[in-house]
Amino acid sequence: MKAVAVQRFGDPGGMAVVDLPDPRPAAGQVVITPEAIGVGGVDVLIRRGALAAFGFEPGHVLGGEVAGVVTALGADVDESWAGARVWAPTGEGGGYAEQVLAPAATLVRLPPEVSPVDAVTVAGSGVVAHFGLRHARFAPGESVLVRGAAGGIGVMAVQLAARTGTVAVTTSSAGRGARLRALGATRVLDRTGEGATGHDVLFDVAAGDELPSFFAGLNPNGRVVTVGVVAGPPPARLVAEMFTAFRKSLSFAVFSADSVSTEDRWTVAAELLAAAGRGEVDAVVHDVLPLWQAADAHRQLDTGAVFGRIALVPE
Ligand SMILES: NC(=O)c1ccc[n+]([C@@H]2O[C@H](COP(=O)([O-])OP(=O)(O)OC[C@H]3O[C@@H](n4cnc5c(N)ncnc54)[C@H](OP(=O)(O)O)[C@@H]3O)[C@@H](O)[C@H]2O)c1
Repeated sequence: MKAVAVQRFGDPGGMAVVDLPDPRPAAGQVVITPEAIGVGGVDVLIRRGALAAFGFEPGHVLGGEVAGVVTALGADVDESWAGARVWAPTGEGGGYAEQVLAPAATLVRLPPEVSPVDAVTVAGSGVVAHFGLRHARFAPGESVLVRGAAGGIGVMAVQLAARTGTVAVTTSSAGRGARLRALGATRVLDRTGEGATGHDVLFDVAAGDELPSFFAGLNPNGRVVTVGVVAGPPPARLVAEMFTAFRKSLSFAVFSADSVSTEDRWTVAAELLAAAGRGEVDAVVHDVLPLWQAADAHRQLDTGAVFGRIALVPE
């Protein structure tokens, strides 16, 4: 089968189409023939080599979620999965391929109204948004500032938070701000967050050197939850800045969906896909490209052009 691997970490030119043996499912696994593959911001960080400390090596096949048809079953897998159209998380990689392995326990049947492209746009990023907001103890009636709102995770956080609370966002242009308002934001700030005030939660996809400057806009007992590092790691002065704001009793946490049980992630992914099927959640698809153009998808992400998600489709 064909797959797209990172042969050299760095710019997208280090990605290449490679031939790999067809995967064989172990007990409890299935093979999925993808109809859509999600391109996540984390794929970009892995490809750049920014996550080298996690042990990614040349030849790594990117891709953390797919939607498609189950085409082979390992031992102990219920026969009813054969031929099913499903969404599946694929962990740290393996998704940019014509055939993909996934544990049967993680499969979610696609509602008939939800296309494979919409599924990989909503489910994985929605799971991070849902549990990230929960980690921040975001409560009905509260105000959240979503920093990095225009990306795959951000557009889901905006939509989910707007169901019960007030949502402000940071973004890089007025045009993007208008699109975020259509998804539920009521206040649009630029990337500096200048003017931010009265927020109970900062849902942060960016981190980076500027993160502490957002503490000033938080209410007493405000909670910061960083789910991503698209602007790089936070500065060493982060803790000192928390102490400068000591009298507000702020708290800071990171959040990784890896800390959530498979069962809970499954439940929320299934709920999000059902909500998408009912039209209650918008799948914000920026572009759909052939799998072999995965490097072009990464170039778009590198230039900051992407609003929402890019999906790849094998041809
Ligand atoms: N916590 C988890 O479990 C989990 C799971 C998967 C991925 N992640 C992490 O989430 C991140 C990717 O999320 P994503 O796919 O939503 O991101 P993304 O689409 O790559 O980017 C999100 C948005 O951030 C804004 N942005 C970019 N650079 C920025 C900067 N220097 N300062 C401020 N804003 C900036 C951009 O919007 P504007 O141009 O409009 O500002 C961009 O659209 C990665 O760090 C990844 O590791 C976390």
